Amino acid sequence: MPAEKQTHEEINQKEMLPKTTLAQWHTTFDAINDAVCLLDMNGKILRCNKTMESFLKKSSKEIIGGTCWELVHGTDKPVKGCPIVRMKKTFCRETLVLKVDDKWLNVTVDPVIDETGNLAGSVHIISDITRRKQREEAIKESKERYRGLSEASFEAIFISEKGVCLEQNSTAEKMFGYTLSEAIGRKGVEWIAPEDREMVMNNMLSGYEELYEATALRKDGSTFPAEIQGKMMHYKRRTVRVTALNDITKRKQAEEELRKSEQRFRSIFENIPNIAVQGYDADRKIIFWNQASEKLYGYKKEEAIGNQLEDLIIPFEMRESVIEAVRNWVENGIPIPHGELKLMRKDKTTFPVYSSHVILKNINGELEMYCIDIDMTERKQAEEALLNSEKRLHYLSSQLITAQEKERRRISLELHDEMGQALTAISINIRSIEKELPLDLTPLIKERIAEIYSLADQASEQIRELSHYLRPSMLDDLGLVPTLRWYLDVYRKRTNLDVKYEPINFEERPSPEVETVIYRVVQEALNNIVKHAQAGSVLVRVERKDKEAAVFIKDNGRGFEVNEFLAPDDLKGGIGLLGMQERVSILEGKFSLQSSKGHGTRISVEIPLH
Ligand SMILES: Nc1ncnc2c1ncn2[C@@H]1O[C@H](COP(=O)(O)OP(=O)(O)OP(=O)(O)O)[C@@H](O)[C@H]1O
Ligand SMILES: [Mg+2]
Repeated sequence: MPAEKQTHEEINQKEMLPKTTLAQWHTTFDAINDAVCLLDMNGKILRCNKTMESFLKKSSKEIIGGTCWELVHGTDKPVKGCPIVRMKKTFCRETLVLKVDDKWLNVTVDPVIDETGNLAGSVHIISDITRRKQREEAIKESKERYRGLSEASFEAIFISEKGVCLEQNSTAEKMFGYTLSEAIGRKGVEWIAPEDREMVMNNMLSGYEELYEATALRKDGSTFPAEIQGKMMHYKRRTVRVTALNDITKRKQAEEELRKSEQRFRSIFENIPNIAVQGYDADRKIIFWNQASEKLYGYKKEEAIGNQLEDLIIPFEMRESVIEAVRNWVENGIPIPHGELKLMRKDKTTFPVYSSHVILKNINGELEMYCIDIDMTERKQAEEALLNSEKRLHYLSSQLITAQEKERRRISLELHDEMGQALTAISINIRSIEKELPLDLTPLIKERIAEIYSLADQASEQIRELSHYLRPSMLDDLGLVPTLRWYLDVYRKRTNLDVKYEPINFEERPSPEVETVIYRVVQEALNNIVKHAQAGSVLVRVERKDKEAAVFIKDNGRGFEVNEFLAPDDLKGGIGLLGMQERVSILEGKFSLQSSKGHGTRISVEIPLH
């Protein structure tokens, strides 16, 4: 029987071991969780335990006599790095870690030395270390992940024990200038400026875990403001502190800028004269009261702060609506419109203010309302004074125009009746004198007498024209439509313009005032056309409508820029157009003028017929 196919029994019998010892040995051998086998000098398996059988999924009969490279690796000679080969040289334990399929195996080979000191074989143990390997891999990966996280952090991260640094990340190195080896073993407070060291040390040792600020100290001695938070971690009965530290220089600068800017604006608002600024919280309690508010409302800042808006400056009858409006703004976002309102002083007198409002969120996210009030008392008074002066001016100009009309009528009558009569009397008297004179008058005297006749006639004609121009008696006697017809006939002859006249619905005469104004408007418009327009044709339309009398005068002349001439403070161009406007406005009518260079001029007037 070949040696390699011997059974346990046969080997045991040969070795002649006591039976119980043998049984104990077998049981122990089989109870081992690792796969164990005994090999001879050539690496052939003499004996194997049960774990080996299940590991190779073969019976001991199939295993014994084979080599492990045949059985495990399926090769006909030892694999590379085979510990058996090495052990034969070293006579010492040799190991190998290898992966077979998805399993990690730890192979140990121990030499068996016989009584002569020669190598008789070896003990071969194969342990499945897959789970250990997996755990090691997981730990390695987790360590790498942790390192990655810590390195990628914008914060400097330190791990310390009892205030001494054990570890830091690369951000910490960049931030402070200490290399990892310089950092390890250094006291944590060495990263902190002397004035804050005690506080930081206390925080570290007491396990304080809230965010706090301190001045950090770099290796080069420079400092910067930092935000720090530490956390105590416990493992293997050790307590370490993980500290994260942030450079907050930029934030501090921004905060400082903000603070300064807030300070600036606050002081502007505090001191700005004549603009009363008040701040209220969402419940209308006063939180801000500037100097101008003190002056305007009569309450000192100390008196005002903490009081309710409505109790201080809102007149009693407005309180409910103001409370409602503020509530609506705070709760529903409906803003209070800015505008003029009456508010109340400390002495309970009311006065007009122009009030604007804003709602802001403070740093705590709470709503605050600010009111900006401008005292309108003086402006109101000035407006009223202006209105009164305008009224007075209107009255004055209407009186002037009426007086002018009266005067023109009087002079016109005087010229017509007195001067006209006088000239007629002169003509009659000359004629009767002429009859009494001898017939043989010299030609010179005859010529002079003829001249006197002609001069008297001319003067009489001119006086008649002047009298009509000043105030045609026709206007009073026959009315607007025939007077304008007469006037336009004379105008047409004098100017050679193509004048079209369109009276519409004027059977019934309007009041003498309306007639006079329309007559004067037409007269001035036509004068302007002669003086300025260089027009070829003119249309004059007067129309009596239901409730108003309308006049429309249009020319096809060169036109002009209206704005340059209607500004009341610019009287360079004369007073014709302004006079028209004034006359129309006295009768509460509407005046409109349209003109542009090269496109003629249109004037239209509408006067109500009361
Ligand atoms: N129909 C028109 N065509 C062109 N320009 C006109 C016409 N009417 C008025 N203007 C322009 O408007 C200006 C103002 O006219 P306005 O009647 O007020 O003054 P005026 O005729 O110059 O002087 P005044 O009427 O006091 O004798 C004129 O100087 C002229 O330049
Ligand atoms: Mg004019």
